[in-house]
Amino acid sequence: MPMRAPAVRQLAGLGVALAAVVVYSGYTQIQLEGLRRLQTDTLDRNRRGSLQLVRIQNSLNLIGLTFRDMQRDGDPYPLTAYRPQLDRLRSGLEDALAKEAALAPATRVAAQQKRLEDTCARFWKETSTLWPLAADGRLNDARALIRTRLEAERATMASLVSALLVQNQDAESAAQTQIAAIYSRVERNLYLLLAAVLLAIAATSLYVIRVNRRVFQRIEALSEQRRTLAGQVISVQEELFRALARELHDEFGQVLTAMGVMLQRASKRIPAESSAHEDIREVREIAHQTLEKVRAMSQMLHPPVLDDYGLERSIEWYTDKYAKQTGLTIHYEKIGIGPWIGDQIAIHMYRILQEALNNVVRHADTREAWVRVRYEPHRMEMVVEDHGKGMPAQPEASGIGMIAMRERTGLLNGDIDFSTPPAGGTRIAVRIPLTAVGDPS
Ligand SMILES: Nc1ncnc2c1ncn2[C@@H]1O[C@H](COP(=O)(O)OP(=O)(O)OP(=O)(O)O)[C@@H](O)[C@H]1O
Ligand SMILES: [Mg+2]
Repeated sequence: MPMRAPAVRQLAGLGVALAAVVVYSGYTQIQLEGLRRLQTDTLDRNRRGSLQLVRIQNSLNLIGLTFRDMQRDGDPYPLTAYRPQLDRLRSGLEDALAKEAALAPATRVAAQQKRLEDTCARFWKETSTLWPLAADGRLNDARALIRTRLEAERATMASLVSALLVQNQDAESAAQTQIAAIYSRVERNLYLLLAAVLLAIAATSLYVIRVNRRVFQRIEALSEQRRTLAGQVISVQEELFRALARELHDEFGQVLTAMGVMLQRASKRIPAESSAHEDIREVREIAHQTLEKVRAMSQMLHPPVLDDYGLERSIEWYTDKYAKQTGLTIHYEKIGIGPWIGDQIAIHMYRILQEALNNVVRHADTREAWVRVRYEPHRMEMVVEDHGKGMPAQPEASGIGMIAMRERTGLLNGDIDFSTPPAGGTRIAVRIPLTAVGDPS
């Protein structure tokens, strides 16, 4: 079953999380803009407007106090003496009124504003009629004007300003409510965003975990397949070697031996002075050499000692023979008593030993090697060590000797490790159980 890489769905999950963050950022930006507008356009403006209204109230109070002084009996000053004071208060009041009108909230009813302005205009117009009365010495008329009309207008203005102040306060608390609503909306949406992002992350992670599990299962299955296949290849190879060895030994060996015997017989029948003796001797010599080669080849393909005497004797025999063949000094050491080990275990361990010693001769650049075998009741360990130049950091990729060693160890359910002994060089240690595989009969 072909497997698809999880990248597309992972990217989709990431995209969803990023899109959620981008959308939320945009949304928060808009909300913050709204908050800023509420803060500066409504609250600040409102407060400045209220300040002007308080200023107006203050001016109206001062006007009231001035009117009270003007009505006091026994006042040492003539009424006209209050004119500059009232003019000052007027300019202050009108200034505050003008500023307040500019800051008035959008919710203010135009009629209300107009009424305030009209009352104010009327008030000052009537105040201006006060001075001719005062100048003519009509003190009582002037005071009556203040008491009745002017005080009434002033009171109207004061109550209008109070109403506006209340309106400003209402507008402020409405803005506060709006701000609180924005905060709670942003907060709620932040939780929603967190939930969406967490969901996207959780979904993507779960998906990746599932895909990873499937990939690992597949790798495990493939690795199992590969092991089985390697085992089969090695078994077929060993079978072939065994059959070839038998064929060489039995067929060719017998034919060559028979040839030698027949030639010997033939030479006896020929007269002693015949020159054919020399030729027959040469042919016998060739037949003998070929027989030796065939035997050696047969032994190399599958040593009969393995089947006849088991692994322990085969290791002794091979190290001895290999030392003689190659000139390598091999220090062989055995610990424990080896049980009978034949068949599969024997052939795999034998091949591992062959390969390890071949590698010493071919790559280690030394003339000495150590072979240590330790037998325990249910396991054995074989160590092949040399103190040569050691393995390169990056061994050549072309060789298959070490791969085959690993495969064979794997087939025996054992483990193999390559290390550097304290004296330098290479150490290969193979440990296998003696019960799992093999034929100890
Ligand atoms: N005892 C050793 N000392 C130094 N280097 C070694 C030794 N054994 C193996 N190597 C290094 O490891 C490499 C791989 O060894 P491996 O047996 O797998 O391949 P090979 O011997 O080159 O070829 P092949 O065994 O397939 O004929 C070798 O080429 C060599 O560089
Ligand atoms: Mg090799």
